[in-house]
Amino acid sequence: QPFNGMKFLITAGPTYEPIDPVRFIGNYSSGKMGYALAEAAAAMGAEVTLLSGPTHLRITNPQIRLVRVKTALEMYSHALNAFPSMDVVIGAAAVADYRPESRAPEKLKKDGDTMSLHLVRNPDIIASLGERKTTQYMVGFALETERELDYARKKLKEKHLDAIVLNSLRDPGAGFASDTNKVAFIDKNSEITPFELKTKGEVALDLLHEIRKRLAK
Ligand code: PMT
Repeated sequence: QPFNGMKFLITAGPTYEPIDPVRFIGNYSSGKMGYALAEAAAAMGAEVTLLSGPTHLRITNPQIRLVRVKTALEMYSHALNAFPSMDVVIGAAAVADYRPESRAPEKLKKDGDTMSLHLVRNPDIIASLGERKTTQYMVGFALETERELDYARKKLKEKHLDAIVLNSLRDPGAGFASDTNKVAFIDKNSEITPFELKTKGEVALDLLHEIRKRLAK
């Protein structure tokens, strides 16, 4: 039980940004990576709060506190509230960077051949927590499609993280929805630990092992 007495905040899944009562902007995240991390951390003794966007997944460990949200703003406000008492934060959610400025009260009608949506920036949840960091160990994810290492390192620095987990959509079987992932753990000292393609359950164990080693230092 290496994480006994420690509190983990883990974000998972997509966010849905409403356009009107029947439509939203979302992404392909299934939540599997974040849920696997929550289950593995809880099995290792952590007290886990899992902040989840809309998914079809269930948690099997009743000790996990599951908070379900829809939008990035909801996830943001729960994350800010929970943050001060946390020891470890892992951002596995695929948070929408932009949301429609307003949600139309009624279903939008087809008026013309084109339509425009005005989008406004969502808060960056992990970066906001990073700015408020005191003793927390903070891990983000970076989902990239090109110049993977450059972008991951940039996010690690700009979001004030202790480590970032890189997954690339160029690797078959990695990223969204599949039961597998291929990741590299990059810490703030630029130490890179690459892993093979594995199930998300196994990936979660690898990542928690990396976190544990660094907490022990
Ligand atoms: O859910 P699955 O189907 O299992 O897929 C897993 C995954 C691909 C979603 C996961 O492994 C992953 O990579 N999650 C992060 C996806 C992402 O949005 O990456 P990003 O590079 O855009 O964001 C970087 C980091 O900032 C992430 O930790 C993200 O949670 C966080 N972020 C981003 C935007 C925002 N507004 N708030 C955030 O907290």
